[in-house]
Amino acid sequence: MRAFITGASSGIGRELAFQLVALNYDLILVARRIDRLKEIKEKIKDQDVIVIQSDLNDSKQFQNLIEQLKQYEIDLFINNAGFGKVGHSKDIDTSQEIEMIELNIISLHKLTKFAIDHMKKGKIVNVSSLASFLPTPKIACYAATKSYVTSYSLSLDYELKKQNIPINVLTVTPGPIKTEFGKVAGADQKIKGMDVKKCVRLIIKGIHKSKKIIVPGFKMKLLKFIIKFIPRKWILASAYKIQSKK
Ligand SMILES: NC(=O)c1ccc[n+]([C@@H]2O[C@H](COP(=O)([O-])OP(=O)(O)OC[C@H]3O[C@@H](n4cnc5c(N)ncnc54)[C@H](OP(=O)(O)O)[C@@H]3O)[C@@H](O)[C@H]2O)c1
Repeated sequence: MRAFITGASSGIGRELAFQLVALNYDLILVARRIDRLKEIKEKIKDQDVIVIQSDLNDSKQFQNLIEQLKQYEIDLFINNAGFGKVGHSKDIDTSQEIEMIELNIISLHKLTKFAIDHMKKGKIVNVSSLASFLPTPKIACYAATKSYVTSYSLSLDYELKKQNIPINVLTVTPGPIKTEFGKVAGADQKIKGMDVKKCVRLIIKGIHKSKKIIVPGFKMKLLKFIIKFIPRKWILASAYKIQSKK
């Protein structure tokens, strides 16, 4: 069995690499920081690990990645790379928001379409966010990109089932997790996040159960349920307050 993981140089992607190796998966790991991917490869002795340096927002590097992937059979295809920016949208550089839209939406979309064409069967796992279920002021663009990921992944999974294509598309929607995400987002990290090892254990459990939406942790599951019943203006106000603490 072979798993492909984007954004494997840090956080959730890196931890997925180690926990999947323990389950006898061979790996293809992708990120821009190749030194970090090589460090992971050096630590793994028992499984085959291929590391590929690729900026998913660079069209040439992206095409090169696709050409390399065509050589391999992949059973588990994980689109994990992504980033956010905290702040009032008016004050965030538009070019950073476009970069976010390109990575979180466009590259994920293109990789997902490639995976459907390339894999005969298996699972595609798209890492979204709990923020995908609610408009989130002060991380507005990021939340909107993740709404796309959740909506597209759920619809696609349904379509594939209707077309009798044996590929599941699973959506992962974590709440705050302790990774480099906060630093990259420009947040102060006053909010406590879940330990990344625990988060990834729960993600893998969800993947094995083929859960359509994987929400790591009881509190976040409860939050996802409760927000359905809360008036939108309250959601906007409390999301603004929470993001302002970051
Ligand atoms: N941590 C949280 O609180 C949280 C909550 C909900 C959802 N998520 C989602 O979980 C996923 C993983 O995030 P994380 O928390 O693990 O954050 P992280 O530690 O910052 O990891 C992000 C990964 O994405 C890669 N990446 C960024 N830009 C890239 C590009 N242009 N091309 C290729 N790779 C790129 C980074 O690698 P390089 O810099 O080496 O390229 C890194 O490996 C993201 O989609 C994020 O939105 C995180």
